[in-house]
Amino acid sequence: MTIGILDSGLGGYSVYHALRGAYPNASFLFLADQLNAPFGDKTKDQILEIACDAMTWFEKQGIKEVLVACNTISALVIDEIKPIYPHLKITGIIDLTVNQFKNNPVEEILVLATAGTINSLAYPYKFEKLLSKKHISSKALPLLVPQLEGLAPQEEIKAYLEESLLPYKNKTQGVVLACTHYPLVKNIVEEFLEVPSYDSLVPIINHFSNRDLPLGSSKVLTTKDPLYMAKQIQTLFNKDEIVYLTQVEHADRRCK
Ligand code: DGL
Repeated sequence: MTIGILDSGLGGYSVYHALRGAYPNASFLFLADQLNAPFGDKTKDQILEIACDAMTWFEKQGIKEVLVACNTISALVIDEIKPIYPHLKITGIIDLTVNQFKNNPVEEILVLATAGTINSLAYPYKFEKLLSKKHISSKALPLLVPQLEGLAPQEEIKAYLEESLLPYKNKTQGVVLACTHYPLVKNIVEEFLEVPSYDSLVPIINHFSNRDLPLGSSKVLTTKDPLYMAKQIQTLFNKDEIVYLTQVEHADRRCK
């Protein structure tokens, strides 16, 4: 059975794109809930509703397994949605992302993410709990997802990042790109801070290795504007993708 992938937009596409590259014959169905993007500035209740509505949508498609390719949902509500959908295997990405540091000696780590993820404290908590790493600084970048989704000029994105990251220059040994949109700015971050960055893509690919994946076709759907999403993908990933329109219905009573 096809594996579902969920995010607010291009972040999930970066995951979908990486998984398609690694497992070209496997079947994935990516739901980009761009109508509700960005997720990063939403309250926990709003994120719970968005996540639940999407899980109900996946259930209706006959999906049995969903990868939440979104740190904000993973940070805020993953433990709450799992018991609401006992027949869905739901995987968040924070443990996967943190665990890649298992045998990595870096201690001074900077986490970059949405405001929702940063305010949840999920990353410092998991770094300490799973790996006993305590020197974690965090910086929210609330403008970055709107800039990427809005296809803002590179110079504008670079200026925002450099201004935001200046206080962390020479003070960190590694950066976690803890929003799935951020691999799109990996080079800018690494060049400015002059340290390596770590995102969720390799841990996600590894997560799906050593098991049989469902074979078949894959598909990208958006809740907003398929032609615009195809243009975003062409601009940022240099890829021709057919994007389909779908509607996610609201008010699943199980989530109230
Ligand atoms: N890409 C998502 C994340 O990893 C959501 C970003 C957003 O919509 O603000 O957090």
